[in-house]
Amino acid sequence: MTSQTLREARKYEEASEKMISRELRPGFHLSVRIGWMNDPNGFSFYNGKYHLFYQYHPYSSSTGPMHWGHGVSTDLLHWEYLPAALAPDEFYDRDGCFSGSAVALQDGRQLLMYTGVLRERQRDGGLCEIQTQCVAVGDGVDYEKYEGNPVLDEKDLPEGGSRFDFRDPKMWRREDGTYGCVVGNRGADGSGQILLYTSPDGFCWSFKKVLIANHNRFGSMWECPDFFQLDGKWVLLTSPQDMLPQGFEYHNGNGTLCLIGDYDQETDTFTEEYDQSIDYGIDFYAPQTVETPDGRRVMIGWMQNWDACGIRTPQELWSGQMSLPRELSVVNGRLYQRPVRELEALRKNKTEYRDVMVSGEIRLEGIRGRKADMELDIRPGSKDGLYRKFAVRFAQNEQYRTSLSFRPHESVLKIDRKFSGSRRAIVHQRRSLVRSEGGELKLRIILDSFSAEIFVNDGEQVLSVTMYTDLAAEGISFFADGQVSMNITKYDLSEE
Ligand code: FRU
Repeated sequence: MTSQTLREARKYEEASEKMISRELRPGFHLSVRIGWMNDPNGFSFYNGKYHLFYQYHPYSSSTGPMHWGHGVSTDLLHWEYLPAALAPDEFYDRDGCFSGSAVALQDGRQLLMYTGVLRERQRDGGLCEIQTQCVAVGDGVDYEKYEGNPVLDEKDLPEGGSRFDFRDPKMWRREDGTYGCVVGNRGADGSGQILLYTSPDGFCWSFKKVLIANHNRFGSMWECPDFFQLDGKWVLLTSPQDMLPQGFEYHNGNGTLCLIGDYDQETDTFTEEYDQSIDYGIDFYAPQTVETPDGRRVMIGWMQNWDACGIRTPQELWSGQMSLPRELSVVNGRLYQRPVRELEALRKNKTEYRDVMVSGEIRLEGIRGRKADMELDIRPGSKDGLYRKFAVRFAQNEQYRTSLSFRPHESVLKIDRKFSGSRRAIVHQRRSLVRSEGGELKLRIILDSFSAEIFVNDGEQVLSVTMYTDLAAEGISFFADGQVSMNITKYDLSEE
């Protein structure tokens, strides 16, 4: 039975999405149907389609009582909206249906697991959010919340675990047909820990152990965990709050963390070996993965960050888009990301140049546009010394530009959207240390109307940024202080 709250949200989204014209949305990134979007939820493959749900407040372009929006796709790039899947309509989720995940049950139904939020007045007069884990079951469009909800609450926490920071369940089906689930929690030391739960059927869950504790090393609370095996290693993804930077790794505020190690399935022991940021740009948070039918591990993130949401003004009809889906791999203890191969089907109008000499600013015939896939190989253009700086500028006209620049002496790649049209005092730049020998660098830049995702050295690092520059600014130029020799292959990306 659909509740009144959900019926209203469904009616509202259907009526108001018409106010947003197609050109004012990204071409092949999922954006919110109307209003506000944050984390990807329930990323799954079910009945022949990819399902991607998201944190959703349809009624304004800022955060509010969370619903789950819903999209489906066959290629991860063309998305069709389905009616909102969940609304905050029960006593245990009255103040929000927070992030969670989806699996297919043995009987063919789809199970969603999410965090129910209930605000409770404390003795000091303040409000605290009680967070519990809840499930809903459905057919890929309509979902019924389980009468036994919540399925996990404070009784299922380890000693010292906070009932106010207990969220974002990510489930998976285990080889023996039972289910596993990781949930973010705040431990007794005030920082994050990831709890492991198991279930025979997806409805009845029991606490197994603390899979890993932060011990105040990487930020504080850990949100949105994901845990999976990849290329012979185990990978734990999480989004820590209140991060401190460590050299060029991580950045202040809401960050992303990837831990790579080994996992003993007998004793449920995760041994961490390597750590790194997941994304080195500005707008990326709360990623979640799916295993595709052909065995790829694909990750998608919210292409926005709580600290820089101000890039969108409250007057906008939509705020929030997802990143490009990215194929993951682990090579020598490092997480690599590449745009999903399905993107290649969107390529049109190839333009290619070999050994272009760049010195000062140049433009190249055929290289412009806001939806593009560009592969660049750069190297020093002269034998007498390294160039000082190389830059690609895009979304450019007389007034605007976003620049990606590389200084080989420091091996630092910088993204800068200060001149992208933003009128807010938020972070506009980020620097990343990249691997380069003798001034050589390989970049793949994916532009889609309001974003740029930069894949460095075949996916060794990625920098994601949004820029809401006037779409008339579609120039692309290249700049070198010194001499750079460049190969470039560029395609237009067209979702038609
Ligand atoms: C992460 C997060 C989650 C929570 C959701 C609420 O961005 O804070 O921890 O479930 O957003 O919308």
